[in-house]
Amino acid sequence: MGKEIKTIGVMTSGGDAPGMNAAIRAVVRAALSSGLKVKGIRRGYAGLLEEDIIEMETMSVTDIVQRGGTILFTSRCERMTTPEGQKQAADVCRKHGIDGVVVIGGDGSFRGAQKLSENGINTIGIPGTIDLDIACTEYTIGFDTACNTAMEAMDKVRDTSASHERCSIIEVMGRTAGHIALWCGISNGSEYVMIPERYKNDEQSIINQILAKRRTGKKHHIIVNAEGIGHSHELAKKIEDATGIETRATVLGHIQRGGNPTCRDRVYAAAMGAKAVDLLIANKTNRVVAYRNGKFCDFDIDEALAMEKDVDEHLYSMTKRLAR
Ligand code: ADP
Ligand code: F6P
Repeated sequence: MGKEIKTIGVMTSGGDAPGMNAAIRAVVRAALSSGLKVKGIRRGYAGLLEEDIIEMETMSVTDIVQRGGTILFTSRCERMTTPEGQKQAADVCRKHGIDGVVVIGGDGSFRGAQKLSENGINTIGIPGTIDLDIACTEYTIGFDTACNTAMEAMDKVRDTSASHERCSIIEVMGRTAGHIALWCGISNGSEYVMIPERYKNDEQSIINQILAKRRTGKKHHIIVNAEGIGHSHELAKKIEDATGIETRATVLGHIQRGGNPTCRDRVYAAAMGAKAVDLLIANKTNRVVAYRNGKFCDFDIDEALAMEKDVDEHLYSMTKRLAR
């Protein structure tokens, strides 16, 4: 029989993502509804080590479901990657009477949760990252909002690109993963989708395609490039030099991490937050909440971190068929 969970902590860690606030709200409200006490750990693992911990009540999370960012702040913390830091983090939890912690973040944050669990604190991870790069789940909180933000920005670039009969390269985030680029490429009708998972240094073939399309009467070109490939400005120059077509690069950057979460991100955040609390109440630890095959489920963090993720090949090959 495991220990009884009376007080839980909740934190956001790593890069923020729209919908994190909705997840915090769900964790707090679900826990309070089940008779638990809740503490907010501010600034991720850095705040935990510095005991930046606040009491959370129903009203602490009022009016945040629609807001981007995270009211608990977030950070990256080097010390948490050391055994000393990990032991200290667990000791701080014990000192503050925290029996279990919900960590909203990405793979790196789950590694921290894994270590907290090894040090005797129950932990549950919730996938919160715009990158969609967590293998065990088909959905991560923030991805939908980031894609919509990038898609709308790309629509605007398309307008000016068409007016000037230019070639435009738009670079989107995603760290080493190409999911945002793939979804934005499809939703924006890009001619070429450059993603690290399929990149073969084939820039000459992009140039050849642009020239071939110009010959068929095409007047402008949109290329979406993932930050995992990068060098969009250099590529723009290369294309302009080789084709004589004016080419511009736009790096969308952190705009993709902000803004009000979409309906989908809010709903998934609510469901995942409530499920994380249920797992803690059931005395589970070292688990990550996931969405797979139409259902919310959970995985052992060790197993989840060992899984590998690829982009959807059907979606990727389709981009080539549709780009004419
Ligand atoms: P994300 O959670 O978005 O993947 P990071 O990779 O930056 O973001 O990780 C967030 C934080 O998680 C790190 O700053 C660190 O505090 C913690 N973390 C990352 N890797 C480990 C690890 N191997 N062991 C313990 N904590 C880790
Ligand atoms: O993981 C989210 C993300 O926005 C990535 O897409 C990007 O590579 C990284 O974080 C940027 O990190 P920072 O905010 O530290 O520049």
